[in-house]
Amino acid sequence: QAPLHITNEPIKSFASGSQDVINLQKSLAKYQSKVLEVPLIINGERIYQGRSVRDQVNPSNHSQVLCKFAQATKEDVDNSIKAAMSAKAKWGKMSLDERAAIFLKAADLISTKYRYDFLATTMLGQGKNVYQAEIDSIGELADFFRFNVKYAFEMYKQQPVESSPGCWNRTEYRPLEGFVYAVSPFNFTAIAGNLFGAPALLGNTVLWKPSATAILSNYLLMEIMIEAGLPAGVVNFIPGNPVQVTECILNDENFAGLHFTGSTKVFKDLCKEIYSKDHFREYPRIVGETGGKNFHLVHESASLEHTVLSTLRGAFEYQGQKCSATSRLYIPERISTEFIELLKQNLETIKTENCSDNIRGFMGPVIHEQSFKKVTSAIEEAKNDPELEIVAGGSYDSSKGFFIEPTVVKTTNPNHKFLSQEFFGPLLTYYVYPTNEFEKVCELIDKTSAYGLTGSIFAQDRDAIIYASEKLKYSAGNFYINDKSTGAVVGQQSFGGSRQSGTCDKAGSSSLLGRFVSVRSIKENF
Ligand code: SER
Repeated sequence: QAPLHITNEPIKSFASGSQDVINLQKSLAKYQSKVLEVPLIINGERIYQGRSVRDQVNPSNHSQVLCKFAQATKEDVDNSIKAAMSAKAKWGKMSLDERAAIFLKAADLISTKYRYDFLATTMLGQGKNVYQAEIDSIGELADFFRFNVKYAFEMYKQQPVESSPGCWNRTEYRPLEGFVYAVSPFNFTAIAGNLFGAPALLGNTVLWKPSATAILSNYLLMEIMIEAGLPAGVVNFIPGNPVQVTECILNDENFAGLHFTGSTKVFKDLCKEIYSKDHFREYPRIVGETGGKNFHLVHESASLEHTVLSTLRGAFEYQGQKCSATSRLYIPERISTEFIELLKQNLETIKTENCSDNIRGFMGPVIHEQSFKKVTSAIEEAKNDPELEIVAGGSYDSSKGFFIEPTVVKTTNPNHKFLSQEFFGPLLTYYVYPTNEFEKVCELIDKTSAYGLTGSIFAQDRDAIIYASEKLKYSAGNFYINDKSTGAVVGQQSFGGSRQSGTCDKAGSSSLLGRFVSVRSIKENF
């Protein structure tokens, strides 16, 4: 077989006045001109009538309803399971080439025919500017689909078996026997695609519960998969009440795997629920990516301007709602005043706005009221806590959209909960450490948070880099040297953390794919 040539999807710049901007504006207008009715898709059938319906609103303008989406009933979930189990007979037996062709075609449809629609739905529904939408719903998503194909072929080729005269040994990569449950978050359309896409590519069939705040883009993705040739029942699109949907799924003996991205608490509850049951036909494969309290550690040798700009981007791009967002910062006393001054100067140029109106605006809204309340309660707490001081931002306004200014809080207590608790919004907390206590601060970073998702060291001094890399080995599954804690690129840095941040199975790698196959060894004597 000729080698597949896979490269990262090029990211467009959307220069003002360009044809790309004109096309995008048309798509933005299209999705605002009517309220879409979004059906469930079960066994290839679109079902809307008779279902209870919820709204997805624009977080930049919460009076604007973007779509009304059907919610799956218990019967719908049961039918999805039946559809998945029966689609499996054919899908699981198809060759990897045939399944791969569907994902490669979907990636092409995303990057060509549907590029602007896909950007528009992600921008409107999930509150992203054009750049954030482009690197997520086009770049990362197309990359997941394409690189998963490359990794799957590599995995299938790894047959570490010898045969001897009179005997032939071989390895078979079977899909799991039952179905996989994919639970996706609002913050990355790409992650949603990988959550159902990785298991499906390997011959599994999937029940996909998208986030209620990402329906518009996720539904379009489901339609694109069908256009690309995905057979009925392979992926079943079932938005709905998470507790009810999950209960139905876990009551079925054919549940074989969970592919999850979301909060640590929800994941732990799901794990408890799964482990408490013993009716499953096979041990379910559990793969999760959960919370984070990602750090930037600055050494006195760091290049100041680069570190400040990286921190601003890591903490505030997409309003701090990336799982990888920088939310705690450690600065040495010797450069702290200069550092914070420069950070503040840069923050002053940023305003919060509707980024589907101003497509290149830096800061949009947080996703919903619950998130708005969580972050703004923390800001209020900071105003009254003597160990905390707000040094930048601190204002918010939800009269039209869920807007919160980028907020920087200083703490004098290295063990303050603001340095360990996840807020999932535009709130960065920093601690100034005595310059000669770099080693101590490494220890502190490692101990303060229960998470282990992403983190960065900024330094020119090689010894400092080596020390931090070693000391913080388990503090971050994605560790950056002189780069921000966000922005892993599929095919370049596989993504995922350990500790309370997940099972570290690494999205965008063959190790993740390995979790969704069941390997059979076959020996044949002649
Ligand atoms: N690639 C994203 C990041 O690293 C997460 O999916 O920020």
